[in-house]
Amino acid sequence: MTEKTIYELSSPGRVGVRFPDCDVPVSPLPKDLLRENLPFPELSEFDVVRHFTNISKLNYCIDQGFYPLGSCTMKYNPKINESMARLPGFSFTHPLQPVETIQGNLVIMYELQNLLKEISGFDAITLQPAAGAHGELVGIMLIRAYHVANGESHRSKILIPDSAHGTNPASSAMAGYSVVSIPSDDRGNIDLEALKAACTDDIAGLMFTNPNTLGLFDEHVLEVIDIVHQAGGLVYGDGANMNALLGIARPGDLGIDVMHFNLHKTFSTPHGGGGPGSGPVGVAEKLADFLPSPVVDVIDPGDSETPPLYGLVAPPRSIGRFKAFHGHFGMFIRAYTYISMHGSEGIRNIAENAVLNANYLKKKIEKTYRVPYDRICMHEFVAEGHFDDAPDIHALDIAKRMIDYGVHPPTNYFPLVVKEALMIEPTETESKQTLDAFIDIMQKIAAEAKNDPQLLHDAPTTAPMRRMDEVKAAKELVLKEKPL
Ligand SMILES: Cc1ncc(COP(=O)(O)O)c(C=O)c1O
Repeated sequence: MTEKTIYELSSPGRVGVRFPDCDVPVSPLPKDLLRENLPFPELSEFDVVRHFTNISKLNYCIDQGFYPLGSCTMKYNPKINESMARLPGFSFTHPLQPVETIQGNLVIMYELQNLLKEISGFDAITLQPAAGAHGELVGIMLIRAYHVANGESHRSKILIPDSAHGTNPASSAMAGYSVVSIPSDDRGNIDLEALKAACTDDIAGLMFTNPNTLGLFDEHVLEVIDIVHQAGGLVYGDGANMNALLGIARPGDLGIDVMHFNLHKTFSTPHGGGGPGSGPVGVAEKLADFLPSPVVDVIDPGDSETPPLYGLVAPPRSIGRFKAFHGHFGMFIRAYTYISMHGSEGIRNIAENAVLNANYLKKKIEKTYRVPYDRICMHEFVAEGHFDDAPDIHALDIAKRMIDYGVHPPTNYFPLVVKEALMIEPTETESKQTLDAFIDIMQKIAAEAKNDPQLLHDAPTTAPMRRMDEVKAAKELVLKEKPL
């Protein structure tokens, strides 16, 4: 990367802001707060603006181009969400204010809880978790609280299909459970015989994603849930793929007991470089009393003269607080705006278009790339990134070559059950032109793989960084600029 650091750009004496002369008596700061040497770079406002603008241009984002990152649902974030979140009545409030002074904020949270209940068919919601994985931890701890309260603390296992997202076993293990992997059958569903065999009297529950990470809706979902319930377990639905079900199927109605939503995947709040996400959790009636504290409720219904008073209440057997204050409030405003803007019909259109776009891509792409499981997909599908007649080409080469064509690569090497996986999720907002352009790129890359494989091995050639050691990049991440 050729971009200079702000320390390299620094020039002695240059300033961005000049403070007016102090017109009040100077009050000395406590000595122990002062440092002898504070190596700030010296820059003009213009230098700083250029520096950060240039850095931002090294990144790739959904506002720039196609971003079919399967499992991550990189959907467009409508700009009205931002306008609403920045309204001063929201952005200038503080969670420590008395509840009487933040009634508007509490109404948004209360209404969002209700909208999520309606969309999912659950009886109660916590908005606290900061991301999907955090929601998983909360959900699994709710399952544990339920079993302990029923005198069943011997239940020590969580069953998880082999196509699961890595956060599922991680959250279960973090909550103290051992994880039992359940194989998929040859249609990509949970293998029912393996599930039955694993349903011993020490299971706490099943954690499964539906549609799963292969983009397939489990064809025996009701039977799966029933088998687990018969064994005394609870069913955790990983709701990360809710985008495919909006307005069509409600996980609560299917019999799922607890599920997290990813507001940043389904309800258009930004992914924002790893945060702030938001992972509300919905539960069936039997788990409502255990929810994290507090939740928002009406504490005084009011009358014809007085409006209702909203407040923060602790569920009677709460598992405790999981997030400072009340969660990522700015995300609640954005999700609330998105859901309200669409209405119930619009919400269903989101799912229908997400599924339609994915099936259109799949049909076209499977002419060139092998797509295992010959079924209608939901909002995403997984292709194999290798060719029999180009044995040196791997999914990684194909993904990197896409960068040269100006699109973000799909998720690769996940799920693990597909060889050289390329997991493609177009989302609902992409036009037919964009999808066709992507199909064209995939076909060109397939031809290059056979005719000029070096092009793929050398890719990316147009990105600010060439091919990186991604493990090293993740393990030795450098996030701060150091003084020279
Ligand atoms: C299936 C699935 N489960 C869980 C998660 C974790 O969600 P988060 O990234 O919000 O922690 C994701 C994230 O993409 C996912 O796709």
